[in-house]
Amino acid sequence: MAAPLFVGGRAAAMTAAVLATVAALLAPAAVAQLSTSFYSGSCASLESIVRSGMTSAVQQEPRMGASILRLFFHDCFVNGCDGSVLLDDSSTLTGEKNAGPNANSLRGYEVIDAIKSRVDAACPGTVSCADILAVAARDGVNLLGGPTWAVPLGRRDARTTTQAAANSNLPSPSSSAATLISSFASKGLDSRDMVALSGAHTIGAARCASFRSRIYNDTNINAGFATRRRQVCGPQSGATDGNLAPLDAFSSVRFDNGYYRNLLSRFGLLHSDQELFGSGGPVDSITQQYAGNGGAFSADFVTAMIKMGNISPLTGSSGEIRNNCRKPN
Ligand code: HEM
Repeated sequence: MAAPLFVGGRAAAMTAAVLATVAALLAPAAVAQLSTSFYSGSCASLESIVRSGMTSAVQQEPRMGASILRLFFHDCFVNGCDGSVLLDDSSTLTGEKNAGPNANSLRGYEVIDAIKSRVDAACPGTVSCADILAVAARDGVNLLGGPTWAVPLGRRDARTTTQAAANSNLPSPSSSAATLISSFASKGLDSRDMVALSGAHTIGAARCASFRSRIYNDTNINAGFATRRRQVCGPQSGATDGNLAPLDAFSSVRFDNGYYRNLLSRFGLLHSDQELFGSGGPVDSITQQYAGNGGAFSADFVTAMIKMGNISPLTGSSGEIRNNCRKPN
């Protein structure tokens, strides 16, 4: 009788070990899911608080809708959408804010701080800074006339980040179409997502330092447009570096498909913008489609924003719910 009992015991132990391995393999996939109803039980007023914070910020300065949208993009492209872009430098952390693409350029941090205080007054310690930024970016787009959509939520906040990660993950305005395509592909976004997301440049502004080389050196630019931009942006770096020009020359506080129509006339402000049309590259036809069909752009922009918002979120028990968006708890 002893032998069969021994065999049975070993088989049971092996079965348990196999089941534990299978469960461990399945677990990460099961918790990594964001959900549009994530806070419906724990913070039902989240959406209305963010909406009212963004409404007053955009009323005070329409460009703020653009600035918050860009903050979300820069958050998601660096270690995923984990609120890392919001961390201030400190004695123990050199973060993203002073990286090349962000220094003297990213803005809107205080708008997120103000919304976070109001969210925490209603639902203490419940909502991540990363999720507040995702909802605020959606509202910025919608308040400037763009689409709205349900934002998948449940992200948690990073405890740390590095300046180097921001320097290496954010695309430069001197990028070619091929570089833009591969930069977005490395985040799981295809060419169509890349062209649709670039339509964010239908709102907001850029500094002369970002478009100087385009208006003085590029040949695929409308001549009258280049002349006008040279009046605000001198040929040498220096006094005019911080002067601003609208990314969409005709409607920079209106979220529409004007960005793509500009590209057809060689009115792209950044070199990287004009790369999306005119050199016979692989994405010319997508730009043409969005220029002619605002509805197609809008629908694809929403799809791509949701995909971008899904880049490597921290979920479950990873990361934390920060008390102050500027520092780890
Ligand atoms: C395709 C690659 C991209 C490049 C190379 C790029 C580059 C830039 C640059 C250089 C500026 C001006 C910064 C300055 O001069 O201070 C800018 C502004 C902006 N970017 Fe992008 N960007 C890209 C994609 C995106 C995406 C995917 C989004 C959002 C979905 C976005 C949203 C914005 C917005 C809204 C502004 C204006 C911000 C403001 O007025 O405060 N960009 N971008």
